[in-house]
Amino acid sequence: MPNFASQVIAWQKQHGRHNLPWQNTVDPYAIWVSEIMLQQTQVTAVIGYYAKFMARFPTIQALADASQDDVLQSWSGLGYYSRARNLHASAQKIVDGFGGVFPQEFDAILSLPGIGKSTAAAISTFAFNKPMPILDGNVKRVFARHFLVEGWPSAPKIEAQLWQIATRENPQNEAKAYTQGLMDLGATLCTRTKPRCHRCPILNTCQANKLGKTKSLPTPKPKKTLPEKAIFMQVFVCGGEVLLEKRPQQGIWGGLWSLPETDILPANAQLLPKLTHSFTHFKLHIQPVMIETEIGTSKPLSVLKQPIAKTLSMSQSQIWLSVEDAIEAAIPTPVRTILQALLAQIKKAA
Ligand code: ADE
Repeated sequence: MPNFASQVIAWQKQHGRHNLPWQNTVDPYAIWVSEIMLQQTQVTAVIGYYAKFMARFPTIQALADASQDDVLQSWSGLGYYSRARNLHASAQKIVDGFGGVFPQEFDAILSLPGIGKSTAAAISTFAFNKPMPILDGNVKRVFARHFLVEGWPSAPKIEAQLWQIATRENPQNEAKAYTQGLMDLGATLCTRTKPRCHRCPILNTCQANKLGKTKSLPTPKPKKTLPEKAIFMQVFVCGGEVLLEKRPQQGIWGGLWSLPETDILPANAQLLPKLTHSFTHFKLHIQPVMIETEIGTSKPLSVLKQPIAKTLSMSQSQIWLSVEDAIEAAIPTPVRTILQALLAQIKKAA
């Protein structure tokens, strides 16, 4: 076994994480859900969502049978909603194409929507004890430093180099401890800022440490200024209820309920506090505006009066909900922020 791997394994056993909610199980469903939630999201942010999701959708069948609305509601606030849509679509694919049983074969796992090479490898390792190399963001950082790989790790050439290293160092035995060890090292010691090198089990062979390059590696992504967009979000209010509109499946917040948007300031609008939301690809400046309306007279949109929150149906693209119920629906985080401020204002006025 490469020396690198044996040191990572020994360290993981003694100092790694052993009691995360998705450890100590070989249920591929439980492991799969955790790996999807942990993409681009830290463990501390995932833990609460994970418990709730598993309680609400305890099996692949339960997830496949759920409505997309219910799945998105459970994801609301975690971000990167294509993960939830893909998880749901994958559950249906597993039911239809694999008899409801999570597939063991690597290429079959990889064929599921939302599962890339590294996630498929993590699932293979943790659920089926098959040693496959992983390469997520944290692991890229560990390798870039340890093996002195310069250049932005997600540039195709650099990424190919890192996959070579991942494959070369991957041990045939103790796959779980090694894979978890790499993740744990990246998350707890070899962090982006302030790495705890004095506690690192592989410091003596770390090239970045030897050459004083730990701080400058991994090479940051070449900076491009993000495009910015400004919109108005319209909070139509009527008797303690607000109007939500379902977003198209494609594009940002696909399938989530949101507030109707417009590019120009509507008449009779009361300005609410502005906010900015950053996506990976652009920055969105939101000016929420409140428009008090009366059903049947002002008709700002072809609105549909629907007093009950829990009976959302997929064919409807607009719905009136109490502000409290709207806050609990499958909505994006900035919309929740706007509605919480609105609720506070209503309560104060009452
Ligand atoms: N990040 C991705 N997968 C993980 C796991 N299984 N444990 C902790 N962090 C992770």
